[in-house]
Amino acid sequence: MTNSGDIFISPLASAAKFAKRWLDELPERGINPTQDIAQVRAAFGDVLPDTGVDATEVIERLGTLGEPGLMAMGSGRFFGWVIGGTMPAPLAADWVLSAWDQNAGAPMLTPTVVALEDIAGEWLLDLLALPKTAAVGFPTGAQMANFGGLMAGRGEVLAKVGWDVNVAGLNGAPKIRVLVNDERHVTIDTALRYLGLGEPEVVAADRQGRIQIDALKRALEAGSGPTILALQAGNIHSGAFEPFQEAIDLAHQHGAWVHVDGAFGLWALASPKLRPLLSGIELADSWATDAHKTLNVPYDCGVSIVKEPSALRRVFGVEASYLPSEHDAQLWPSEKVAELSRRGRGVTVWAALLSLGREGVVALVEEMVETAQLLAAELRKIPGCRVLNDVVFTQVSFAFENEARTEEIGAKLIADHSIWISGSYWQGEKILRISVSNWATSAEDRAVTIAAVHRAAS
Ligand SMILES: Cc1ncc(COP(=O)(O)O)c(C=O)c1O
Repeated sequence: MTNSGDIFISPLASAAKFAKRWLDELPERGINPTQDIAQVRAAFGDVLPDTGVDATEVIERLGTLGEPGLMAMGSGRFFGWVIGGTMPAPLAADWVLSAWDQNAGAPMLTPTVVALEDIAGEWLLDLLALPKTAAVGFPTGAQMANFGGLMAGRGEVLAKVGWDVNVAGLNGAPKIRVLVNDERHVTIDTALRYLGLGEPEVVAADRQGRIQIDALKRALEAGSGPTILALQAGNIHSGAFEPFQEAIDLAHQHGAWVHVDGAFGLWALASPKLRPLLSGIELADSWATDAHKTLNVPYDCGVSIVKEPSALRRVFGVEASYLPSEHDAQLWPSEKVAELSRRGRGVTVWAALLSLGREGVVALVEEMVETAQLLAAELRKIPGCRVLNDVVFTQVSFAFENEARTEEIGAKLIADHSIWISGSYWQGEKILRISVSNWATSAEDRAVTIAAVHRAAS
């Protein structure tokens, strides 16, 4: 096989055909997959052939047989979990990135990708009003961005008490206390597991899911030694933001490292109107967010931000005989996240931000919030429907007269196929939850959504 461009063109043309069909149909198609995993497996066949199939035929099979098992997550009527769609520029940039096939782990490998990721990082810090000297890395998602921030924190709080975890490990190390909001996202707990830090100490949250300052104060005063506090910007049920200023001031008085999980909510900082809700967040030590959620770049792309770059180099820096022994003053991409060889995901962030411009980012975020607030207002008019949260950001949690009725309406909504709203459990109650995370959600999508809830509730 030769590696000439021609042999790529036919499969790429086939890929473009299927992508076009999917994207054309997305605004109208039903949301739910129409085949389950067993049906999809049966359609594709699971016997590896002895001889290979032509590349174009591979893509033809993928496009035709794969579609029935897809969830229309990019639809403006999909409100499940916190997922987000994709915009044209980052999607197309992702294709170019795949064709370039760059390993973005080290600067001498790929100046273009590293330069674009650096620019994207600087633009992000500027848009989110976070410290300009912070390091910005692009891991797979907020899970790994939470891991990165907490990993840097673990290294720093132990270094402060004279313990080098890189050398001595955790056996016999001073105990690290990790304090978390009772309503933290589960990825904080998994990150702590990866880090060998075990279960955190839970601090009570209020009715909107914000950490309670009195409880935090008591918890901080009840112990001593190396401490990490994990806060969140954007509760998955309420969208609420922590009282950052007070919480971070308190934690810093106790020498703690403060990490903020802002998987979708950190983007509120891009809006001058919303920014006051997160006042003081810039004082934290590390922040995690996703570009594949609120910024609507294709999966996957998280963003890991650490105020003090040296804290990252301390934990992620590597030395190997085949790498230059003197690293630059500037961190390598591989020193910002828990990956060495990696995809240059930040290029999709660069493309998204360039295509939106500063005003476009503000509009993207503010329109999502407006959509959530308009949906909440319409839901409140439906007999028996209770909106449970103050809709300060993109999340709307609601329930009906009793759990049986909420469950019944939830099941009807899933069976409706015109929208996707899924259930959850929040503050002792089964609920339904809307997450507005897609740039494409229109007034018409809103109307279809409210009509579907009316139908299910009638
Ligand atoms: C608040 C919060 N943190 C972390 C995550 C994990 O993000 P990811 O799945 O991109 O790793 C999510 C996902 O929805 C989230 O909502």
